[in-house]
Amino acid sequence: MKAIEEYVRSIPDFPEPGIIFRDVTSILQDAEGLHLAIDLMQEKLKDVEFDVVVGPESRGFIFGVPIAYNLHKPFIPIRKKGKLPCETVSVEYELEYGTATIEMHKDAIKPGQRVVIIDDLIATGGTNEAMVKLIEGLGGKVVKTVFLMELAGLNGRDRLEGYDVDAVITYP
Ligand code: PRP
Ligand code: ADE
Repeated sequence: MKAIEEYVRSIPDFPEPGIIFRDVTSILQDAEGLHLAIDLMQEKLKDVEFDVVVGPESRGFIFGVPIAYNLHKPFIPIRKKGKLPCETVSVEYELEYGTATIEMHKDAIKPGQRVVIIDDLIATGGTNEAMVKLIEGLGGKVVKTVFLMELAGLNGRDRLEGYDVDAVITYP
């Protein structure tokens, strides 16, 4: 059996010079890779009590929905600006390359709900920090974040001090 790391294709200088892009499509296009990724991420939640899974567009959807489905929890999508049809809360943040605004429906999280965030990757931690702001702004409690990959050299964890952050693969 191949290790999960072996399914990840790394592309230098994409989408900008200096960035090493860790490509999830090379995991997804292999049935074993997809199974392994979901199973290893889900394993990180085995002792966690929670009510909902939150995941960001678009790669957070890929991993968040199957985990929510398997654990019989609801899935709340966080979307890029202008995509959600009802009343939203929003936050602007910085990425490893560029800036973005993300939104969530105002009625998606109920005060006191215990939330798990799922995403493919943490780079600067900006997306995760922004998601935490949205969730906490609605009264939710972020009990854990699970990533498939962590780019440790970008110190994303420093922005999430005090939160339970876990990753399946860590790149230096
Ligand atoms: C990527 C990735 C994470 C985020 C990580 O998403 O899927 O959500 O960047 O970067 P950060 O830790 O520096 O915030 P992106 O916004 O590129 O959108 P995509 O999933 O639609 O490609
Ligand atoms: N999102 C932000 N930085 C990334 C990287 N280096 N590889 C893949 N996705 C990313």
